[in-house]
Amino acid sequence: IRVGLVIVAAGSGTRLGHDHPKAFVRLGGRSLLAHALDRLASAAHEVVVVGPPGHMAEAGVQVERSGTAARIVPGGATRTGSVAAGIDALGSVDVIAVHDAARPLVDAAALRRAVAAVVGGADASAPALPVTDTLKEVADGEVVTRTVDRSALRAVQTPQVFRADVLRAAHARGDDATDDLALVEAGGGTVVLVPGRARYLKVTYPDDLLLAEAFLASGEP
Ligand code: CTP
Ligand code: MG
Repeated sequence: IRVGLVIVAAGSGTRLGHDHPKAFVRLGGRSLLAHALDRLASAAHEVVVVGPPGHMAEAGVQVERSGTAARIVPGGATRTGSVAAGIDALGSVDVIAVHDAARPLVDAAALRRAVAAVVGGADASAPALPVTDTLKEVADGEVVTRTVDRSALRAVQTPQVFRADVLRAAHARGDDATDDLALVEAGGGTVVLVPGRARYLKVTYPDDLLLAEAFLASGEP
């Protein structure tokens, strides 16, 4: 089966607070985008990088430096719009993996586990972890109204892998969501999760970058 990979890197990284797009922020001497590309490209047949519209030249430099034959297209105003742009740029593939450049310490094994779940019959799959913090629901004024049972909750990571026809149909409905699994769920598709790892964390806030540096320095791939 042919695997198409879309790496979304078009966000600005407002919460990280650097003066250039988050995908170009450095971790151990290389950009977050370069890490993600290098770690996943070997497990895909076709790669599309979705770059920040105002910084396409820099996206090109990062892709060239990684030595991956990836097409580069400009993203949209939302993550969903950026994923849609990436999907449109892919050729004929059987499954599509969508990965956040903001998760630099991904590995090809994560992609392969999710692809295997889709080949095994799921419409979509992604790595995920059990939630470890106790979860509270609050009302106005941060008053706790309820403790949520976390035993059935999972925190989902990327790459998220889809049957190509299912993902294209989900995006054709034109809805917006924080991830693409939600679009497939809304369409009644079956989503099966596979084991994630803490090191697949998303770099969102400055502390996340420190944590990623520690994982990188720990030596394990
Ligand atoms: N993304 C994108 N296009 C957008 C928004 C987000 O391609 N219009 C990508 C980001 O580049 C990132 C991933 O989606 O790889 C996850 O988004 P997030 O962590 O929210 O990144 P940003 O939107 O860049 O950060 P922030 O929300 O703090 O501005
Ligand atoms: Mg965002």
